[in-house]
Amino acid sequence: MRIGVLTGGGDCPGLNAVIRGIVRKGVEVYGYEFTGFRDGWRGPLDGATTPLGVAEVRGILPRGGTVLGSSRTNPLTVADGIRKVKENLAAHRVDALIAIGGEDTLGVAAALSGQGVNVVGVPKTIDNDLNATDYTFGFDTAVNIATEAVDRLHTTAESHRRVLVIEVMGRHAGWIALHSGVAGGANVILIPEHRFDMEQVCAWVEQRFRINYAPIVVVAEGAMPVEGQMVLKDDTRDAFGHVRLSGIGEWLAHEIEARTGKEARTTVLGHIQRGGTPSAFDRWLATRFGLHAVDAVHDGAYGTMVALRGTDIVRVPLAEATARIKTVDPALYAEFDVFFG
Ligand code: F6P
Repeated sequence: MRIGVLTGGGDCPGLNAVIRGIVRKGVEVYGYEFTGFRDGWRGPLDGATTPLGVAEVRGILPRGGTVLGSSRTNPLTVADGIRKVKENLAAHRVDALIAIGGEDTLGVAAALSGQGVNVVGVPKTIDNDLNATDYTFGFDTAVNIATEAVDRLHTTAESHRRVLVIEVMGRHAGWIALHSGVAGGANVILIPEHRFDMEQVCAWVEQRFRINYAPIVVVAEGAMPVEGQMVLKDDTRDAFGHVRLSGIGEWLAHEIEARTGKEARTTVLGHIQRGGTPSAFDRWLATRFGLHAVDAVHDGAYGTMVALRGTDIVRVPLAEATARIKTVDPALYAEFDVFFG
């Protein structure tokens, strides 16, 4: 049996740990052979492959990024895309495919599964917004990086009596903002799921100064004011139709300064959240996902995604896992009201 492996979408700490888990168990326990597909769905679409065996996965466990490369290529929007993918899988004698990715990459996997391709999915995204799994790998690392940034910003905010705004990733879901904001002791946390009122934000900022502290505002890139829209970086869209976000932090600092007269500055964490070595938890989770994904192939459980439920790894239908994203529940967000202001 020959298995193809690909990593799609934004890179994410732990991708290499998944690949290593798949290959080590696949070769050593099941005697499988592997083909690495380059750059997400571009690999099967263009027939771009790379050797993948035990030698290729040696030493990659603590490395960020992905040794297979990644892209946001979408074969469903390319003429004859599905046929080309099927032909290239056959040309490389690939019997089954393991696709490691977020909602877009796994959405393609679900569509291909419906067209008879043997595919198993592994959930990846620093945003933690994939439905059907309690956590995605990469999220813990991103939260740790964002929390450390919040910790560091406290000292500058207090020394200079400034409002410091920190913009983190999170297009439709505010998981990184919420977790890092709570862990870092932010005074305002703004998430895409809950439109914010600028008057209220300014009231929290002023309240913080009144008790002789300086406010830290954590904002997810997809957060929106009650009256207004998402702030876009530019007009471009990727192959899945996503706009590029970023700018809400700068907008907020400007508004806060104009309305309160307090100096306000912004830090945009950007790709720093996705870069570098994965946390121990992400290596653990990614390794387990890899081991269970190759077991799923062995069992012929195609059309499924491995998922974390509590402490167990389970299999869920790909179609169910990609049907909707997982957002922050309003009741969970409200738990932290006491810390605002
Ligand atoms: O994959 C999720 C994500 O981290 C989003 O939070 C963010 O909007 C996006 O990736 C940015 O991706 P890129 O670097 O490819 O523009």
